[in-house]
Parts: sequence; structure tokens; C-alpha cells
Amino acid sequence: MANQDDQFKKVVAHSKEYGFIFQSSEVYDGLAAVYDYGPYGSELKKNIKEYWWKSMVQMNENIVGIDAAIFMHPKTWKASGHVDAFNDPMIDNKQSNKRYRADQLVEEYVENKVMKKANKEIEKARKRFGDAFNEEEFKTTNPRVMGYLEKSKSILTRLNTSLTNEDLEDVKALIEELEIACPECGSREWTDVRQFNLMFNTQLGTIAGEAGKLYLRPETAQGIFVNFLNVQKSTRQKIPFGIAQIGKAFRNEIVARQFIFRMREFEQMEMQFFIRPGTQKEWYEHWKEARMKWHQALHPASKLRFHDHEKLAHYADAALDIEFEFPFGFRELEGVHSRTDFDLTQHQEMSGRKIQYFDPELNESYVPYVMETSIGLDRMFLATLSTALQDETVPDADGKDSTRRVLKLHPALAPIKCAVLPLLKNKEELTSKAREIFDKIKFSFNCQYDEKDAIGKRYRRQDAIGTPYCITIDFETLDDNMVTIRDRDTLKQERISIDQVEEIVLKKIDMRQLF
Ligand code: GAP
Repeated sequence: MANQDDQFKKVVAHSKEYGFIFQSSEVYDGLAAVYDYGPYGSELKKNIKEYWWKSMVQMNENIVGIDAAIFMHPKTWKASGHVDAFNDPMIDNKQSNKRYRADQLVEEYVENKVMKKANKEIEKARKRFGDAFNEEEFKTTNPRVMGYLEKSKSILTRLNTSLTNEDLEDVKALIEELEIACPECGSREWTDVRQFNLMFNTQLGTIAGEAGKLYLRPETAQGIFVNFLNVQKSTRQKIPFGIAQIGKAFRNEIVARQFIFRMREFEQMEMQFFIRPGTQKEWYEHWKEARMKWHQALHPASKLRFHDHEKLAHYADAALDIEFEFPFGFRELEGVHSRTDFDLTQHQEMSGRKIQYFDPELNESYVPYVMETSIGLDRMFLATLSTALQDETVPDADGKDSTRRVLKLHPALAPIKCAVLPLLKNKEELTSKAREIFDKIKFSFNCQYDEKDAIGKRYRRQDAIGTPYCITIDFETLDDNMVTIRDRDTLKQERISIDQVEEIVLKKIDMRQLF
């Protein structure tokens, strides 16, 4: 746990120090759960988007992209169910005036007060029995552990039942029975539990009152649903086909924490795949596997897992999360949802317009079913950055051991692809040659020219932002037109001709390796 905390702190500090992520409005002490991407962060984010867009839109003939507006007709959100049902149960502590998600207070109690004790017993037994230890058997025979597991199950079952039945009084009763105190001040004086709608709203200038109430979209998906016929007709796509979109979404999260994991303004990369009714099972399997493969091209399989939803949203007949092992444990990174014909049917009813597809093979019209893949771009960024950030012991210039902090990003995602470094700053013949090379290769990819500090220090700076290659221009370069190229990961240095630089770097950063 301590290691995980340390790694997370390291990621947050590194993000700021090297210009990946800054707290929004930091000069005013920041705005909670809103973040700005700095120079390297915005490049990395752009590259992640490109990886997703290319693998969805460019690589699939039957998936097209759109870029819908953030504001939509207010009826959209009535139809989608967000006005009535996009709620979290909240509770305030009367002494600290802090607001919490009631369900999370209970879940955290279970994790910290019940499961922690069970896990402690399990770890003690593991040490005692060594290789002979059988965890499953221990969990089902040790009375103390069985008691903790039973308690945890009964609390969570009661919470789920109360939430499903909208019995908020019982959620409060549960918090009181468990004697849960405010994590901030320790008081147990709670308000009633109320539903809190997560959508931000604003007012259209020209219309007063409810009719002019606009929402900031809480998901990008609805921009795709309302454009289904426009896109299908203008691109002459036949079912099955998909519509992809990358864009901002906004949620007034009650508890927003863990850096960019849960934000109030964030970005989603969503794809709605329109299919014949009755084929949802096979497409669910297809997209489940395809999305996992996409993740595994970047990250080790051990850091990824599926989590099936037991409690389904009102629109879904099957749903799962692809979870990633963040520094604070396995959490949702992407959702795959079989959304049935819920959204299109709702928009059809609310708008009074027919939203159907004529299937020439079946010679009939129907409201298509939808398979959705929905990934948070910022979460993908956090997953990528936290896995890439590593401390390593490497030999320094004198052959002694030294440590370096390196971002082992996939070269296709790295913000800067090649650093151009003249060996010495004050030698005009070296700096002008380096500038000449820089001006030539900058047309092909992002490069950085750096002449400040000793060469070793410059290498470390490039390691810290994940640059796959550094090239050094020295006095020999002036005679033989060769430079030294250094590989970020192997630290191998080779002499190559200046003419080869572009080709070598382009090969290394080619996104095709990921498809
Ligand atoms: N259209 C379906 C939908 O929006 P969701 O599970 O609510 O489903 C999809 O969100 C993804 O969006 C999540 O898997 C997560 O990666 C990301 N996401 C959701 N809320 C977020 C938040 N507050 N901050 C950052 N990312 C978030």
C-alpha cells in the first residue's frame, strides 16, 4: 500500500514538474477536480486520441467519426433519462459541512473497517503456512475471516437493495447503525440522504425559466444518437456500423478526487455501434475482446481485467468495465455497454420523428440496437503515465551506478520524439550544425533543441518526458556528417549518418506497431 501511495504521489508531482498536468486556476488556489494539460501533457493526450481515433475510424471501414456540440436541446436529457435518473445519493455532515456520497461512505467502511481485518488474518496465515497455504480453503473455514466476509456481504447487499428501491432513509439508517463518522471532523451528525443530479446547467440568454435551461452534456453518446439518421444517410452506411466521437463531458461529481481519475470536466472517447436487434450477444463479445486487445497493445495483460456489472443501468441488457490497475488499485477505465434500442426509441418518442433503419436484406424497418464502448481519455492518460513512470539504476558516464526517473512511454505516444543536442553550447560550429539538423527533421515529428547544461543532465531531462531518441552533435560530426543516437530504453549509443536520423525515428514512432 505504501508503495502504491508513493507511486501515485510521484505521478502527481512529476506531472506538475515536467509540464504534463497543472491544477486549474492554481493562482487562485485551484478549482477542485478540474485540471489543465501542460505542453507535454497536451501532446501525450493528443497522441492517445490519435491512437484511439485511428484504431476506431481509420482502421474500420464501417465506423465514421463526428464532432457534435456540447450544448444540446434540453429534451435530449429528458429522453436519455439523465434529468430524472442521473443521480448520486449524497449526505452532508452537519458539523464539518462536508458533502459525501452516501454509498461511498458505506463502501469505504466495508473496505477499511471490515475487509482490512479479513485481509490481515489472511496475510498472517499466508506467512504461517508458507507454500502450503490455500487461500480459498482458509476463507471458507476460518471462523474469524468467515465472519468478516459475511458482514461485508450483508452490508453491501443491504446498501444495493436500498439504492435499487430508492430507500434513502434506509441508507441513512445503515450509516447510523455502522456508526460511520465524518472523515474530516469525526462527527456523526448527518443530514438526510438526498439524490443529487450530476448534470451542470446554465441558462440560454434569450429564453427565461425552465424552457431556456441548458445542460453541459454528461456523456458524448447522446450527440451520436440524435445524429444517427443524419450520419447514416449522408455516409450511406449499412448496419452494422458505428459512429465515434471524442469530446468533453461534464459531471458535478460530489466526491471528486484521485487527481485526474474523477474530474468535473473530462473527455470521453465513445463509439456507438448500431446493430440488428437480436445480434447484441455476438457484438458484445466482439467489442469486449477488441477493446481489451487495444489496451493490451500498450499495457501488460496483468494490469487489465474485466468486471461484469451485476446491477445494470436502466438502458442496458449487459455491461462490463475494463479495469486497470492504477497506483491506487484496480478501477474502471472503460465501459462496454449493450444499450438495446433504449436511446433511439426514447428520442423517437420525445421528438415525434421516426428514427428507424430500413434493412434492405430483411426488407424491414427497425430501431437498431446499440453496442457502446466508452473510455475516459483522462483515465487513459493516467493509466499510461503511471505505468510509464519508472525509477531505474543505470550506469552513468563514469560507469558508476546512478538512478534516473524515466517515462517509458510507447514511442508512438511520446510527446517529443527526438531531442537534438549540440555537445557544447559555446561552439558556434556545433550549435549551427545542430540547428540545421533540427530545422530539417522538425517537419516530420516533434523535436526539441536543447543546448543548456552538461550532456548527461540533458539526457535525464529527455528521459523524464519520455523522448525515445536523443542525437548529439560533436566535433567529429563536422568532419564525417555522423551523429550519436541514444536510445531511451536500452541506453545504447550508436554513430549514424545524419541522413538516417529521420528514417530511424519514424520507424520507431510508427503507430502501426500498435494495431
Ligand atoms: N456513455 C456511457 C458513459 O458515459 P460511464 O461509465 O458513465 O458511461 C464512461 O463513463 C467512461 O468515462 C468511464 O469508464 C470513465 O473512464 C470516464 N469517466 C466517467 N466519469 C468520469 C469522471 N468524473 N472523470 C473522469 N473520467 C470519467
